[in-house]
Amino acid sequence: MSTKPVNVEDYRILAQRRLPKIIFDYLEGGADDEIGMKHNREVFERYRLMPRRLVDVSKRDTGIELFGRHQAAPFMIGPTGLNAALWPKGDILLARAAEKAGIPFVLSTASNASIEEVAAASKGDLWFQLYIVQRKLAEQMVRRAEAAGYSLLVLTTDVGVNGNRERDLRNNFGLPMRYTPGLIYDGITHPRWSLGFMRNGMPQFGNFVTADSSDVEMQAALMHRQMDASFSWDDFNWLRKLWPRKLLVKGIMRPDDAERCIAAGADGVILSNHGGRQLDAAVSPIDVLAKSRERISAPILIDSGYRRGTDVVKALALGANAVLLGRAPLYGLAAAGEAGVERVLRLLKDEVDRTLAQIGCASASQLSPDYVRADAPMPTTASPSVRTSQEHLDDFVLHGGISPRGREPSAIGTKEEMHHEHS
Ligand code: FNR
Repeated sequence: MSTKPVNVEDYRILAQRRLPKIIFDYLEGGADDEIGMKHNREVFERYRLMPRRLVDVSKRDTGIELFGRHQAAPFMIGPTGLNAALWPKGDILLARAAEKAGIPFVLSTASNASIEEVAAASKGDLWFQLYIVQRKLAEQMVRRAEAAGYSLLVLTTDVGVNGNRERDLRNNFGLPMRYTPGLIYDGITHPRWSLGFMRNGMPQFGNFVTADSSDVEMQAALMHRQMDASFSWDDFNWLRKLWPRKLLVKGIMRPDDAERCIAAGADGVILSNHGGRQLDAAVSPIDVLAKSRERISAPILIDSGYRRGTDVVKALALGANAVLLGRAPLYGLAAAGEAGVERVLRLLKDEVDRTLAQIGCASASQLSPDYVRADAPMPTTASPSVRTSQEHLDDFVLHGGISPRGREPSAIGTKEEMHHEHS
């Protein structure tokens, strides 16, 4: 790219250039055939925006209120592990950029900086994401997050077993990284990354580094995402009692599960298929959003595939309260450190703002389903001409397009190919 990056995709390309292949593959890769990951982008093509004209949009507001706090933009930085492999002190840089942008930062259990280090480095709104590797350890981490002032706990529920990420398997990706000839060549051909890596050393899982020798096993379990697969609704009650502040359940993919979470005491849900990194065949969250909104009035957050302001606006219009960004800020981090994250967040906020103006909605909090039209997917059996309106409606309902506010919905935009060129 010869000119300056102007969108998230440009940052993705820059990230790919700067990172060794093994690291970029970890950041980018999805499960199995990566169909779910691609689908997370393509699904937005089914939803298109319906602009309202002659509305005064001279003053606009991209901000939202969530859990009694104001956010400057309707998104936050979602939890991602091993951020220091992308840029030294990655977790802290992400937290700081989020603070500057006036949005929450979600620290992963698998972070490199510890719960306490991130809290000391940021005065922003911090959330902590919990993986249940082992019950006792989970309890300790929850108490640490509470003591360090994290305002909200996110329980991730879609990693009972590790996703089959074939890029990582082929690359022998793991911690500590083994210095194979391939890795050394990868490092030599990406000197800017290697320099930072050599100066800062092998990243550790900061939340697990103590004098306790069992932590080594725990770190390995975390690396291979060997979680406690027995964790179920009864155990959820235990966690609910343990954590006194707001609690969200991440990885929800069904309207009935969303309802069950709220009945069990959660304060909201995060519809997510983990960015296509766990179950390749999972539906995309936006396709279950409207149905979930019909079932619960509590906050619904969503992620997986959000790269454009228009994606965010579509989700908000269909009933989401906010969007978690996964890879998008990581592309900025990997390309240009803290400044790269800030720029990605700014770009997305500007895109949301521009979209609001263009659809005639002055405020992100006033978005409603009638700004979106959800087209039925291409028919596989009957030709479109012989399909009845009812059939189209059935498709629409089937694919989650019925709005909670009962207005007509929608389909989408441009097909964004995932490029995998290497530097
Ligand atoms: C993740 N994700 C994730 N989720 C979580 O709950 N805990 C974690 O530690 C991680 N780690 C992680 C690492 C990396 C490199 C990625 C890309 C993702 C999933 C993440 O929170 C989010 O659900 C997805 O990234 C959303 O999809 P997009 O935006 O990346 O397409």
